[in-house]
Amino acid sequence: MRNMIDALQWRYATKVFDANKKLTAEQSDLLLEAVRLSPSSFGIQPWRVIVVTNPEIRERLRQAGYGQPQITDASHLIVFVTKKNLSDSDVDEFIALTANTRGVSASGLEGYGGMIKQSLSGKSEEKRIEWASRQAYVALGVLLAIAAHEGIDACPMEGFDPSAFDEILGLSEKGLTTCVVATVGFRSEADQTARFPKVRFSQEELIKKVE
Ligand SMILES: Cc1cc2nc3c(=O)[nH]c(=O)nc-3n(C[C@H](O)[C@H](O)[C@H](O)COP(=O)(O)O)c2cc1C
Repeated sequence: MRNMIDALQWRYATKVFDANKKLTAEQSDLLLEAVRLSPSSFGIQPWRVIVVTNPEIRERLRQAGYGQPQITDASHLIVFVTKKNLSDSDVDEFIALTANTRGVSASGLEGYGGMIKQSLSGKSEEKRIEWASRQAYVALGVLLAIAAHEGIDACPMEGFDPSAFDEILGLSEKGLTTCVVATVGFRSEADQTARFPKVRFSQEELIKKVE
């Protein structure tokens, strides 16, 4: 297994992808499975992922992404979207899945479902989206770490107009909205930023211990 710290040193937010280098189906499946297995608050996974392969749509998305070339040139464009108005029916769906997966009765999980519903009912639509986005960012982090581990390059991106993405991908009518994007593929030799030293604050600065 590749040393994880080496992998995190190796990775960088790729600016120039080699448009000719594509992920294999196995690599793509592995990354998407890692995303699927990501943890979330209550386990409800209030996000979905859209993998955009259509070149014309990717070109339009690039325009909505301030022209950033990764959007068209990376092997894969992965768009994390969140549910706009999480409702009791989303909770019921999750509770049914849990009951089914674990072979228990849904009625035995009523208390848990009620707790999730209560937590959501105290939030405005805006706050629900914000909360759902936090869960999507956890999945994004997992994707970035696993990609690095596998020697696959990626660039996390929030430099785009979310409402334009929503429109191009037809998300609003599905009750979804764009959260964050990951472009995934392989770096081009021409990408100078790959050679830039990593800029990070020291552990002393970032991590405080309460002992
Ligand atoms: C949530 C998020 C959004 C980002 N958005 C963009 C983006 O739109 N375009 C871009 O080139 N880099 C983007 N970045 C990359 C960061 O600038 C980069 O991760 C940071 O400078 C640290 O550098 P490194 O990842 O190369 O180590 C984003 C990073 C994160 C985590």
